[in-house]
Amino acid sequence: MTTYTTAWKSPSNIALVKYWGKKPEGIQIPSNSSISFTLKNCATTTKLTLVEQADLEITVLLEGNQEPGFVPKIEQFLHRISGVFPFVLNGKYTVDTSNSFPHSSGIASSASGMSALALCICDIAKEKGLLAEKDFKQTASILARLGSGSASRSIYGPMGQWGEHPDYRGSSDEFAIPYTDIHSVFTDFCDTILLVHRGQKTVSSTVGHGLLKDNPYATARFAQAQENMIAMKSILKSGDLDAFIALVESEALTLHSLMMSSNPYFILMKPNTLKIIEAIWAKREKDAVKWCFTLDAGANVHFLYPQADQAAAKAFIEEELAQYCENGAFIHDEVGMGAERL
Ligand code: PMV
Repeated sequence: MTTYTTAWKSPSNIALVKYWGKKPEGIQIPSNSSISFTLKNCATTTKLTLVEQADLEITVLLEGNQEPGFVPKIEQFLHRISGVFPFVLNGKYTVDTSNSFPHSSGIASSASGMSALALCICDIAKEKGLLAEKDFKQTASILARLGSGSASRSIYGPMGQWGEHPDYRGSSDEFAIPYTDIHSVFTDFCDTILLVHRGQKTVSSTVGHGLLKDNPYATARFAQAQENMIAMKSILKSGDLDAFIALVESEALTLHSLMMSSNPYFILMKPNTLKIIEAIWAKREKDAVKWCFTLDAGANVHFLYPQADQAAAKAFIEEELAQYCENGAFIHDEVGMGAERL
């Protein structure tokens, strides 16, 4: 009866070209390619202990307290990845996990949480002699994807790209790859997450992705995303911030328009999401700043700006944007270098 212990810290990420919709075949195969900034501060730390035994037994601790609510999700994850590593179904797991961002802040922890767990499992597979170092990160990305699609991109910094695309060499639907061909302005780009709504989302990502199946705009959207990936590639290289702003904001609003055009339709933005967007647009109009927003599948706003503008952007947040955040809360983050073993 062997005991394995390992720990990883893995970050969240924010997509610039969004993944929304899955192909019917396979598990978590995206309908289009996507690319994200890996974050630095918003991360999940997971310490995993696995004691080999015949049955599967899972205990989850969140910030030190038992969290039985997370067990079914982890159990489903282990069943999915058992196709890659059958050993995962025979053991007693203690998953001791904590997030750097406040619990129920409305920040999705699936990307950071699932990637941290996937990396821990890969450590154990490596220790068992089932995984070579050269395949480590790619396999971790495959496992993370099976937990949550966007989690596949969190393995790498400063950016992760996921989903087959002819213009992205080595790209795959199965795993993400690091993306580094970027202008220096983007290597430390800032993302302040404005916490508009801390409550539970009314529609989960899983349900949201599924609704694309019958969305009349889906086919056009998937083609548009593939086109946007081409444009994004040259923007990231040149550092053209005007083109960056136009593409990133369009992607965010397209994501939410897909939600509004699904059947049943739904809206995840809140009135203050729009207030913030309007304030950013007014500021840009007035002062010609190169600041913009993007959105996740939720009401929070990711406010994006270059590191060089940090002082002015932070003043703007305090003076004009914080009033629209729940309890005035926001989290300063920036582009980071990906997951790390502890
Ligand atoms: O990984 P999921 O299934 O939670 O989907 C994430 C989808 C978006 O965050 C809205 C976009 C993305 O590409 O991360």
